[in-house]
Amino acid sequence: MAEFIDSILKEHRIFYPSDEFSRKSYIKHMKEYSKIYKKSIENPEAFWADKANGLEWIKKWDIVLRNDMGFFKWFEGGYLNVSYNCLDRIVKAGKKDKIALIWEPESGEEKTYTYGQLLKEVCKFTNVLKKFGVKRGHIVEIYLPMIPELPIAMLACARIGAIHSVVFAGFSSDALKDRIQDSKAELLITADGSFRNGKIFPLKDNADAALKECPTIQKVVVVKRADNSIYMQEGRDFWWHDLMNKKNIADFCEPESMHAEESLFILYTSGTTGKPKGILHTQAGYLLFSYLTFKWVFDIKDNDIYFCTADIGWITGHSYIVYGPLSNGATVVMYEGSPTYPNPDRFWRIIEKYRVTIFYTAPTAIRALAKEGDSWPNNCNLKSLRLLGTVGEPINPEAWMWYYNAIGKGRCPIVDTWWQTETGGILITPLPGATPLKPGSATKPFFGIIADVLREDGSKANVNEGGYLVIRNAWPGMLRTIWNDPQRYKEAYFEKFGVYLTGDSARIDEDGYFWIMGRVDDVIKVAGHRIGSAEVESSLVSHKAVAEAAVVPFPHEIKGQAIYAFVVLKKGVKNNENLKEELRQHVANSVGPIAKPDKIQFADDLPKTRSGKIMRRILKAIAEGGKDYGNIATLADPGIVEVLVRSRVK
Ligand code: WTA
Repeated sequence: MAEFIDSILKEHRIFYPSDEFSRKSYIKHMKEYSKIYKKSIENPEAFWADKANGLEWIKKWDIVLRNDMGFFKWFEGGYLNVSYNCLDRIVKAGKKDKIALIWEPESGEEKTYTYGQLLKEVCKFTNVLKKFGVKRGHIVEIYLPMIPELPIAMLACARIGAIHSVVFAGFSSDALKDRIQDSKAELLITADGSFRNGKIFPLKDNADAALKECPTIQKVVVVKRADNSIYMQEGRDFWWHDLMNKKNIADFCEPESMHAEESLFILYTSGTTGKPKGILHTQAGYLLFSYLTFKWVFDIKDNDIYFCTADIGWITGHSYIVYGPLSNGATVVMYEGSPTYPNPDRFWRIIEKYRVTIFYTAPTAIRALAKEGDSWPNNCNLKSLRLLGTVGEPINPEAWMWYYNAIGKGRCPIVDTWWQTETGGILITPLPGATPLKPGSATKPFFGIIADVLREDGSKANVNEGGYLVIRNAWPGMLRTIWNDPQRYKEAYFEKFGVYLTGDSARIDEDGYFWIMGRVDDVIKVAGHRIGSAEVESSLVSHKAVAEAAVVPFPHEIKGQAIYAFVVLKKGVKNNENLKEELRQHVANSVGPIAKPDKIQFADDLPKTRSGKIMRRILKAIAEGGKDYGNIATLADPGIVEVLVRSRVK
């Protein structure tokens, strides 16, 4: 971390978009940005109302924004349908035969869907859901890999007003179980398996294990993807293709008229304490925000081919594979598998194959692929690219430069987009035709967003002084609450400063550019994936050998951050390398492989205050290999620090 902060403090290079790029873009100059920005924050309601006219409404809203005791409501009194806006509206605009979705499987033949075809598939699956008795307001759990059935299922839910809750297919059965139990879904959509690095991941087996403790689930729809042998429970489990191929399934279904503030989806994400929280997004505000940010940040034009490497199981896939691109009538490439399968040029091959013009990925992928050397991208034709994007974690200037030169060949602006599951869409970002870029900076707030950096006491930080990143106003894509826990919503986001607390630290430089420094809470960004230290700790202590555990991040060359676990074993348990591997596997089984600790240090005790609170700050310094542990005098046993430092895992 120290190295990273050092490198961004020294970063003074500036890169301008080419005149040609600017001329063709929606926002062509910083003067234009500043003018629109000023208007958007002086009168946000007028700004958003004007933009909302770009969507098709069944009935227009009565009021743009209302603060209902800390819960924000957008476009109340308005009615629309999200799937209609993403499909029917595009078909009606003459794009029935335009390709909506290109699906690239890890191996095998690609599949494409035009807007007309996608609409039919979505309608058919909506009719399947209806036959199962799914109605507006019901929750549908989706545990699918990156296959077309995933966006189809989401849009089908949106069409009848069912609330989807997508669980990342890389999560374990325990993680799935927790999310189903919290959301109390009645129907689950999954697949027999998924492919990654040529291997099959047993999704249905995981689902079966989870369902043993999920009595609310009545029916399961299973997509045949891996063709492996699975258990199908009579009366509960149904094949997707059987249901879709029934003769009486119509290929049209009238979209429901949804109130702007009815729920669209829940997406679970890790927070500071306890179990993951179900972030709730609603219909109109979320759609408008993903629509407009996608349009302007990616400067989308009718002939663009857009490829986002995120998994739809995370917010990036929700907003920038499904809702944002489709509501803009864009052509989206979705890829099922690993970036290095069969070789580390898979992304570059996909760009070449489909003549991708806009490419959006994560710093982790950039670092990992940069390490493989320039010959992989150099052997592919990347001339079609015109714009690059990154998301999910801070990008170090070296990785930025590699991306800019080796992939963008110095021609393509990079949009470093900062946002969160909670924000629904991008909040801090360059606008590619306007914003001069500084490698490592997410640059400036999007329209209608007032971002700031505060000190602990709530006062405004000075130029270049690090502090808490906050958002001072409401925006249409913001989360509405935490599912089943409105109190936690207020506490987690608004209690500290009375304005939206992001959980990140940042500084603002002399040009008003934002430099995101990372999380200040107990969330760890492992390869861009959001993991709660509490989740990993509770998994570790659920192992029979473990008495206590504390988990902190440490800097990792490729993944940005990785997990370092301090583990106190129960009396009499022998510590050895085998046990470390067993614990890693245990975490993989109970959370998911992405949450495995890279390093495990066995300890006799952990640094605690006299009241018994574990001092993670000290553990973090130890894990980072730093020398400054701060004040250790308040520890019950200050001597413990030296003992832990001596046996640090390098
Ligand atoms: C981090 C992902 C630096 C940040 C869309 C945030 C970033 C968390 C960036 C949210 C960026 C996201 N630069 N950090 N461009 N984008 N982050 O909910 O710490 O999975 O709070 O949403 O990712 O992660 P989440």
